[in-house]
Amino acid sequence: MPYLANADRYGKMEYRRCGNSGLKLPAVSLGLWHNFGHIDSFDNARKILRVAFDNGITHFDLANNYGPPAGSAEENFGRIFKDDFLPYRDELVISTKAGWGMWPGPYGDWGSKKYLVASLDQSLKRMGLDYVDIFYHHRPDPDTPLEETMATLDLMVRQGKALYVGISSYQPEEAAKAINILKQLGTPCLIHQPKYSMFDRWVEDGLMDVLEQQGVGCIPFSPLAQGLLTNKYLKGIPAGSRATSHRGNGAIEEGQVSEEKINKARELNLLAEERGQNLAQMALAWILKDPRICSVLIGVSKPEQVLDSIRCLENYSFTKAELDRIDAILK
Ligand SMILES: NC(=O)c1ccc[n+]([C@@H]2O[C@H](COP(=O)([O-])OP(=O)(O)OC[C@H]3O[C@@H](n4cnc5c(N)ncnc54)[C@H](OP(=O)(O)O)[C@@H]3O)[C@@H](O)[C@H]2O)c1
Repeated sequence: MPYLANADRYGKMEYRRCGNSGLKLPAVSLGLWHNFGHIDSFDNARKILRVAFDNGITHFDLANNYGPPAGSAEENFGRIFKDDFLPYRDELVISTKAGWGMWPGPYGDWGSKKYLVASLDQSLKRMGLDYVDIFYHHRPDPDTPLEETMATLDLMVRQGKALYVGISSYQPEEAAKAINILKQLGTPCLIHQPKYSMFDRWVEDGLMDVLEQQGVGCIPFSPLAQGLLTNKYLKGIPAGSRATSHRGNGAIEEGQVSEEKINKARELNLLAEERGQNLAQMALAWILKDPRICSVLIGVSKPEQVLDSIRCLENYSFTKAELDRIDAILK
C-alpha cells in the first residue's frame, strides 16, 4: 500500500527553535543508530518511520556508520525514503555524520577534509538525497587542525550538499573554538549533539552555557541511556532487548545493566508513577524541561515505543521538590 501521511501529523507535536537559527525541530526526534541496519527487520524499520512522521516527528538522524553493517541504516532509509517519503522531502530534516571509522586506511576516519567530503558523498548516494539538512562532525579529532574540519563543513554548505552543520560530542572548550571558526567562515554552527541523560549529566558542567551564549541548539542523544531509563530492565534483562542483542558499535551490553543503575531506575520509576508517567516519559521530560534543548533524540526498536515516548510532551514541568528528589536518587 502506498504511504499516505496522517493528515493530522502536526496536531500534537511541539516544535522548538534550534539555537538562534531559523530552523525548528520537533521536541522529539528519531535516531537510526540501531534497529535500521541490514541485520534488522526492514518492515519494522518502515513502520517505525511511518509512525514517527505520522505523529509529527519531522527529524530523522543518521550517520555513515549506522547499521550494522556500517552504511546499511542509510541504505534502508534511502529505500524507505524513496517509497514513502519522497513527496514529503520538504517536511523533513534529515541529518548524517562522519567522524568514526568507516572504511579502512587513513582516509576513512576522524576529521580530515579528505574523509568528510568522501563520506558525505557516499551518504547522499546511499540515501538517494541531493542534500542533507544537517551534516555533523561526529566526534572531535585530536590530530586534524580544527580549522580544516570546520572549513570542510563550511564547504559542504557552500556546495549545497548540507543546509546546516553541527558538531557532536565536543567538550565545552573545543565546541567554543569550533563554533567561533564556523562563525568567522560565515557558516554558523546550528547544533551540538551530546550524550545526555539522567545517568550522564556532563553537559551541565559548561557545555550548555557555551551553547546558550553562542546561540547554538542542543539535541541530546541516548536520553534513555539506551533503555536503562525505561521500565524495560526493572525486573531483569528481557530477551530481545538491546542489551542482549550483541549489536556492537557502542550498543549497551548486559554487563552495563548494573544493579546500581537498576536500583536508581526503580526509585525514579516510583516518582514517574506519582507524576502519572512511565520512566521513559519522565526521563525525556526531564531533559525537555530545559528550554535550551531544542529536541531530544530517541531511539526505538518498535513503533509502539515512539507512541509511548512522545507522551513525555504531556508533562515536562517539574516541581522543585521533584527535581531535588531526582538529584538525590542520582547522587
Ligand atoms: N552523536 C553520537 O555520537 C551518537 C551516539 C549514539 C546515539 N546517537 C543518536 O541518538 C539516537 C538515540 O540513541 P539511543 O538509541 O541510544 O537512544 P535511547 O532513547 O537512549 O535508547 C533507545 C532504546 O531504549 C529503549 N526504548 C526506547 N523507548 C522506549 C520506551 N518507550 N519504553 C521502553 N523502552 C524504550 C529501546 O530499547 P530496546 O531496543 O531494548 O527495545 C531503544 O532501542 C541514535 O539513534 C542516534 O541517532 C548519536
